[in-house]
Amino acid sequence: MLVLSVLPLVFLVGGTSASFQHFGIPSSNAIVNVRVFNVGNFTLFNEAPAVIAPVVPGHETLTVPTFSFLVEHNTTQKRILWDMGIRKDTQNAVPLYAEGFAAGFIAVEQTGDIASQLEAGGIPLTSIESVIWSHAHFDHIGDMSTFPNTTGLVFGADTNTSTFPEFPNATLQASDLTGHIITKIDFSHANLTFSGLKAIDYFGDGSFYLLDTPGHLAGHMTALARVTPTSFITLGGDTFHHVGEARPRPAFQKNFPCPAHLLEETKTSVSTEFFWSPNSSLGSFDILSRAQQFFSISDHPDSFYADPVISQVSLEKVATFDADPDFFVLVAHDASVVGALPYFPASLNGWKASKLKESTAWSFVDKTNPAFALGTV
Ligand SMILES: *[C@@H]1O[C@H](CO)[C@@H](O)[C@H](O)[C@H]1NC(C)=O
Ligand SMILES: *[C@@H]1O[C@H](CO)[C@@H](O)[C@H](O)[C@H]1NC(C)=O
Ligand SMILES: *[C@@H]1O[C@H](CO)[C@@H](O)[C@H](O)[C@H]1NC(C)=O
Ligand SMILES: *[C@@H]1O[C@H](CO)[C@@H](O)[C@H](O)[C@H]1NC(C)=O
Ligand SMILES: *[C@@H]1O[C@H](CO)[C@@H](O)[C@H](O)[C@H]1NC(C)=O
Ligand SMILES: *[C@@H]1O[C@H](CO)[C@@H](O)[C@H](O)[C@H]1NC(C)=O
Ligand SMILES: *[C@@H]1O[C@H](CO)[C@@H](O)[C@H](O)[C@H]1NC(C)=O
Ligand SMILES: [Zn+2]
Repeated sequence: MLVLSVLPLVFLVGGTSASFQHFGIPSSNAIVNVRVFNVGNFTLFNEAPAVIAPVVPGHETLTVPTFSFLVEHNTTQKRILWDMGIRKDTQNAVPLYAEGFAAGFIAVEQTGDIASQLEAGGIPLTSIESVIWSHAHFDHIGDMSTFPNTTGLVFGADTNTSTFPEFPNATLQASDLTGHIITKIDFSHANLTFSGLKAIDYFGDGSFYLLDTPGHLAGHMTALARVTPTSFITLGGDTFHHVGEARPRPAFQKNFPCPAHLLEETKTSVSTEFFWSPNSSLGSFDILSRAQQFFSISDHPDSFYADPVISQVSLEKVATFDADPDFFVLVAHDASVVGALPYFPASLNGWKASKLKESTAWSFVDKTNPAFALGTV
């Protein structure tokens, strides 16, 4: 009986081993089309200690992209937007952030907000059925007032919906919420679990799931988009900010071998004062024997992660996807891939066939990559 029940799955995926099934993800032929915008880059001056540990001297300031994803359901043509990036008029953000922009702690470089980028790309805003926020921080919520009231708003049920000015330190204000039908995703009713993460089937056909990844901010979610019957894009939001918080791990090393030129370059570019591996010696780093991620989540008093311990657990679970060949994991601020992604109007769906993961997975250890933070250059 066991053999009989396993065989159809094997045939379904063309006889190749499909590791997504080991995560508890049901089989389906339903897919979505995923396209990415970099809404803008922003620089956080001297804030790296709030994001990663350790911080190698010279890498205290971070410049990161803000990704927004247009997700189109293949059969119904429904369009949703996963995250929105930063609003254009930063002076009108809630004081918690507007003061940071005004004081120059955060510098934003963007040509237009996501609404104007969609319209310029021929996507009418009225065609966006819903916006989904991974979480309610300024660099993900955009400006909902730029969207028509026909666009719904979806976020995690644990999101703190207190608004400024009633709450002086709130992350939201009335204009972020009013005029849109709001759907709160409540994972207490979830009946699916993928790699230890509670999951909700958004369209009900296995094409797009929302995953409960708490820790960074109350209500934080991750999305899992099926882009072919057997390959996925994991939209990680701020589950982690730097891919060195997830890489490398033994399974990642095994599935995505480090390119030879980077094995050689990192011997001298990676600081052996800050990073260790069994086969390293002082001044000569060995990346092959590194069995854990380079960075951990900041537990600094001013950490960007509301709960660093819970964040680390969510990260460990999402990192199991990152180590697997069936999943391309993209967090909202992955600076390592900023020059390598096929942006809108191109589709990300072909990431596996085009070997995008193989060609970018180790970019962050290359000293010429914008995400490099492993040694003094
Ligand atoms: C963000 O930075 C990348 C890499 O430096 C650059 O190619 C891109 O044009 C920038 N995007 C914006 C919106 O400024
Ligand atoms: C649906 O997916 C198929 C297979 O990837 C693709 O050929 C087709 O263009 C898609 N349809 C739409 C409307 O996106
Ligand atoms: C949506 O906006 C239109 C145009 O501004 C307005 O006429 C309509 O009453 C609004 N509908 C809702 C449900 O707010
Ligand atoms: C808002 O944050 C500031 C700075 O952290 C703090 O001093 C103040 O007590 C907070 N106000 C409220 C109402 O929580
Ligand atoms: C929600 O946010 C407000 C503003 O920062 C804060 O005063 C309040 O304590 C928060 N509520 C919860 C349940 O964390
Ligand atoms: C799981 O939950 C979904 C959505 O609530 C529901 O449609 C489905 O029937 C449930 N499945 C099982 C096996 O309980
Ligand atoms: C360290 O290098 C030795 C010799 O090349 C090798 O046998 C061993 O497996 C390496 N250790 C690890 C942890 O990779
Ligand atoms: Zn963010």
